[in-house]
Amino acid sequence: MTNTIVVTGGAGFIGSNFVLHWLARESAPLLNLDCLTYAGHLASLASVADHPRYQFVRGDINDRELVRRILQEHRPAAIVHFAAESHVDRSITGPEEFIRTNIHGTFTLLGEAKAYYDSLAAEDQKSFRFLHVSTDEVYGSLGPDDPPFNENTPYAPNSPYSASKAASDHLVRAWFHTYKLPTLTTNCSNNYGPFQLPEKLIPLMVRNALRGEALPVYGDGQNVRDWLYVEDHCDAIRCVLRNGVPGETYNIGGRSERRNLDVVKTICGVIDELCPESQYKPHAGLIRFVTDRPGHDWRYAIDCSRIGRELGWTPQVSFEVGIRKTVEWYLQRQDWVASVTGSSYRSWIETQYANRGGSD
Ligand code: NAD
Ligand code: TYD
Repeated sequence: MTNTIVVTGGAGFIGSNFVLHWLARESAPLLNLDCLTYAGHLASLASVADHPRYQFVRGDINDRELVRRILQEHRPAAIVHFAAESHVDRSITGPEEFIRTNIHGTFTLLGEAKAYYDSLAAEDQKSFRFLHVSTDEVYGSLGPDDPPFNENTPYAPNSPYSASKAASDHLVRAWFHTYKLPTLTTNCSNNYGPFQLPEKLIPLMVRNALRGEALPVYGDGQNVRDWLYVEDHCDAIRCVLRNGVPGETYNIGGRSERRNLDVVKTICGVIDELCPESQYKPHAGLIRFVTDRPGHDWRYAIDCSRIGRELGWTPQVSFEVGIRKTVEWYLQRQDWVASVTGSSYRSWIETQYANRGGSD
């Protein structure tokens, strides 16, 4: 076994942040396997394209032979599995890809990881890890006074996305119990930060506000999410990889519950301040309430005390600091935004928002 780690989905939002984070902090090589769907962008990784410890392979996690060859040739010490279809709205209009990648792709990866694990010497088997990155959405929706999700909260997924992630979590659990593959599962809350495609809430609002376009808030904007700065999440994953107990799951949250409407208003306030000359000021005037998402989960909140208590990780970046850093990043990286918002992006936005209406 070498000390290389294999990352899947490293050209997506969290994956690309993790690749950059890893190469800056660790000395081990990293191989990124990503098939570059609409969500994967090598522009996010341009700064490490020629890094001596980084390698990119374009390929699908469903390609069993390719996965096998990568594991045999690189003999990694760990697999960190980010690759997924990740957008709830896309899972409503087209659930099939979610079944293919999130469930079948994870199944394929687990099968090849097990075959590789079985080939390792006993000493190497002790340190090998398969880390599966999942979501808090598997736990379903909370009411206003419910306690936050912890690792023992029963699974109750409500969207095709969360159902497919729940299924993948169960497969990972089964591969630990049945085959003794040393797995780790992390369930995190909503991430935000650099390199997030502007079809998710925060970067969409930043992009639209800067262009003077409507800010589409679903329903009454009272839904609550727990926001985790992506850099904090990357730190948590490294921490779980290093110290997590095989077979266990760890919830990762930002301790920053916010209503969607408040998130959008905060973004508008930061943009008002950073762009004092903007003709669209005050940007909150661009907010429009649009038809709600079907089956829209009302509230997510994470109790991340276990990872704090057992592994010593806590989120470091408050929402107020993180959102300002994020808006500043998008202002500085309009080149990146332009590179990921081509014709396929625009057609998604048109079909998604065309018939949703919009009131002040
Ligand atoms: P993303 O959609 O931005 O990126 C997904 C990446 O996976 C893309 O680069 C895509 O090309 C790649 N990919 C998709 N299908 C693939 C396949 N079959 N083979 C190889 N590569 C494939 O996702 P993200 O927001 O970075 O999320 C990463 C992981 O974290 C996902 O597993 C997601 O479920 C989980 N997660 C995300 C959030 C969040 O707020 N973004 C929150 C909780 C959990
Ligand atoms: P999203 O970023 O899609 O993440 P998730 O649905 O996985 O939590 O959405 C975050 C919240 O923002 C969610 O409650 C839906 C809401 N939302 C809007 O109000 N308007 C939008 O245009 C989008 C994309 C999301």
